[in-house]
Amino acid sequence: MSRREDKVKIAPSILSANFSCLESSIKSVESTEWLHLDVMDGHFVPNITFGPCVIRSIRDVSDHVFDTHLMISEPERYVEEFAEAGSDIITFHIEAVEDVETVIETIENCGVKVGVSIKPDTSFDSVRKFLPSLDLILIMTVEPGFGGQSFMHDVVPKIKEAREAVDGVEKDIDIAVDGGISPKTAPKVVDNGANVLVSGSSVFKGDVDKNLKELRDAVK
Ligand code: DX5
Ligand code: ZN
Repeated sequence: MSRREDKVKIAPSILSANFSCLESSIKSVESTEWLHLDVMDGHFVPNITFGPCVIRSIRDVSDHVFDTHLMISEPERYVEEFAEAGSDIITFHIEAVEDVETVIETIENCGVKVGVSIKPDTSFDSVRKFLPSLDLILIMTVEPGFGGQSFMHDVVPKIKEAREAVDGVEKDIDIAVDGGISPKTAPKVVDNGANVLVSGSSVFKGDVDKNLKELRDAVK
């Protein structure tokens, strides 16, 4: 399959940034299109990160598109707060909710874009019928919860399945991949149809400029 003509967007995940100097970490990736914000509640996933007040603070120091990835139970309870904090896209996990349509509507009513994420073992079919209401599908290529895990190659066919389905819908829907994305794994996901690369450890570990250049060059 040929690479997509659209520009691939990079969404650094601040989970791997230095939280003692978050502003300068965010500035170090200001050339990227999106900023990926991993919200974890210690319930849906076995880790706790940050909530709306951190997002509100960093909104003042960044012009990125804020891509908020909610790895939380009952996301509908918090959507409004995350939207008000400055999220541009709010993504929830399909596995975390019972009434998917209501959560989508709740996000839409806040005036932000709607994303749905699926864990490695969740089929693409579970999101298929909601496609016309979505702006983003976030395909997890690791089990959600922690940065720095290894890319799961067996998820790749699902990326291709998503690309084929999205191309059949008259709507601009981004396909993002999240987990273990590096210059090594990025070409494979882009070749299979992903157009947003979420990347934490391989962006923030070491020389950020060099890491970003290598990631961009890998998918040119
Ligand atoms: C994992 C998070 C990811 C994570 C990616 O649950 O959703 O966004 O930060 O980190 P890396 O790129 O290190 O796998
Ligand atoms: Zn994420």
